[in-house]
Amino acid sequence: MDVETAIRTRRTHKAYGPDPVDRATLTALLDLGRWAPNHHLTNPWRFRVLGPVAVERLKAAVGPEGATKLDRAPTLVAVSYVRTPDDPAADEEDLLAAGSAAYAILLGAHARGLAGYWRTIGVLNEEAGRAAIGLPEGEHAIGVLHLGTPRQEQRVPERAPLADVLTFLD
Ligand SMILES: Cc1cc2nc3c(=O)[nH]c(=O)nc-3n(C[C@H](O)[C@H](O)[C@H](O)COP(=O)(O)O)c2cc1C
Repeated sequence: MDVETAIRTRRTHKAYGPDPVDRATLTALLDLGRWAPNHHLTNPWRFRVLGPVAVERLKAAVGPEGATKLDRAPTLVAVSYVRTPDDPAADEEDLLAAGSAAYAILLGAHARGLAGYWRTIGVLNEEAGRAAIGLPEGEHAIGVLHLGTPRQEQRVPERAPLADVLTFLD
């Protein structure tokens, strides 16, 4: 699949088959994330593949309603970045770089016929959630990537027309 097709046809999936993404594929996807652009080559991203014990801890931290949502996909990867709070410009760049890495992983998964979903989980900003996934002080979670095999076609959510978001300056 070429890059443009991958970008246009990737969708957010919320229903998955039961099989986890195998270790080799998962490793290849996270390695792909590492090639996202990052200013000063800070490599700010951190990936944590959540095993069953970590998932149970996170479920306990989010509570019953959130716990059900964590069962949607068989493979969960928490993506975070290493913060530099005393340098807000660098911190912003590193946040964006980590987001780019997350997107690269989703695109790579889609290109391999896998389904994916980027979910932000509020409790990861709280002590209980951070502890559940072993997030050290100085790292900020940007989401949990849900990965697995697709179960259904997804509708295509509309985007605002290009004209609404584009300005050519003189
Ligand atoms: C940073 C980020 C966080 C997101 N968090 C959530 C989320 O918490 N829950 C959710 O349902 N979708 C979440 N999404 C997915 C968007 O809802 C989804 O991308 C959007 O509906 C467009 O659909 P598409 O991905 O199929 O194009 C998130 C996407 C991004 C980029």
